[in-house]
Amino acid sequence: MDTRIFHLDEINQAAKAIQDGKLVAFPTETVYGLGADATNEAAVKNVYLAKGRPSDNPLIVHVASIEMVEKYASEIPDNARKLMKEFWPGSLTIILNIKKGVLSKTVTGGLSTVAFRFPDCQPTLELIKEAGVPIVGPSANTSGKPSPTTAQHVYHDLHGKIAGIIDNGPTRVGVESTVLDMSTDQPVILRPGAVTKHQIEEVIGSIDLNHHHVGKNETPKAPGMKYKHYAPNAQVYIVDEGTDWKQVVDWIKQQPFDVGMMAEEKILQQSTLPMNAIQFSLGKNIADASARLFDGLRQFDDQPNVKAIVTQAFPAKDLGRAYMNRLNKSAGGEHFATK
Ligand code: TXA
Ligand code: MG
Repeated sequence: MDTRIFHLDEINQAAKAIQDGKLVAFPTETVYGLGADATNEAAVKNVYLAKGRPSDNPLIVHVASIEMVEKYASEIPDNARKLMKEFWPGSLTIILNIKKGVLSKTVTGGLSTVAFRFPDCQPTLELIKEAGVPIVGPSANTSGKPSPTTAQHVYHDLHGKIAGIIDNGPTRVGVESTVLDMSTDQPVILRPGAVTKHQIEEVIGSIDLNHHHVGKNETPKAPGMKYKHYAPNAQVYIVDEGTDWKQVVDWIKQQPFDVGMMAEEKILQQSTLPMNAIQFSLGKNIADASARLFDGLRQFDDQPNVKAIVTQAFPAKDLGRAYMNRLNKSAGGEHFATK
């Protein structure tokens, strides 16, 4: 199958492909998603196949209006409505109880809940409206790899397996949406993202953060949590705050292979780097670093001599919480200091 690139003036053709049951990757403000008609069971099944995604890991349903949510949720609690009003369109995914019989088990992984997201990205809102159906969209990467933040990343992982990609350039936020479970009385953040715990609490009061670690044979509340994630080919090491980067550079010098070094611009500029250090700038602040993290991890996959990647940690608060969550997973919890 040829995978074509849809330009922004070709959204109607992309919508036609979605209506025909084909897979089309779409941009959002966070990462690119792998789109299919949420009401077409065969199309949704193909999303799992193309990604190599385990079938018990449910998909997010992307909508372009609250009416679309009303069609599929059994009820929208008042607090959920308040959050939609405050943060939609935007990077907050809200899990609600599902109306019986309206969406296939394939979408929900057999759960009685469904995750809704209203992305802050005009071309994709147009796509959903034009197609006239909600669109499922996991991140458009091969399962286990860092999420795609450019159309090229999607092409790299999925060309030949999907009908097309809508190219809207690099995404702005770079880490996936906050996933908030509102299907029970006490709302819980299942995945941190750009909309922070603090921002949510300002609207609806106290909520929980999920710290539960899921075992291999457990059916988890957020099924995505039990799988390997964001892992490039090389081993990633987290460089904690307060680490002396001279030590890191010394260590790199001693290695018989190339080492990726992902750090803020000022750290890269201060360091005298050995030949085998391959630098990648995380920019000037946590917003830059979040937008660039996956791109950096992916670039090193194209450099087979890079066998390790050292990556700068940021304080785990606000957007930094989302950044550190992704970095921790990509490193499998490995730190430079305890290596
Ligand atoms: O920013 C984003 O959310 C991107 C863009 C494309 O919208 N999408 C995305 O989808 O990150 P995905 O499938 O890669 O991650 C969705 C996460 C998974 O960990 C999944 O397990 C969880 O949300 N999830 C989806 N539906 C759920 C449900 N009903 N209950 C619990 N967790 C759910
Ligand atoms: Mg994903």
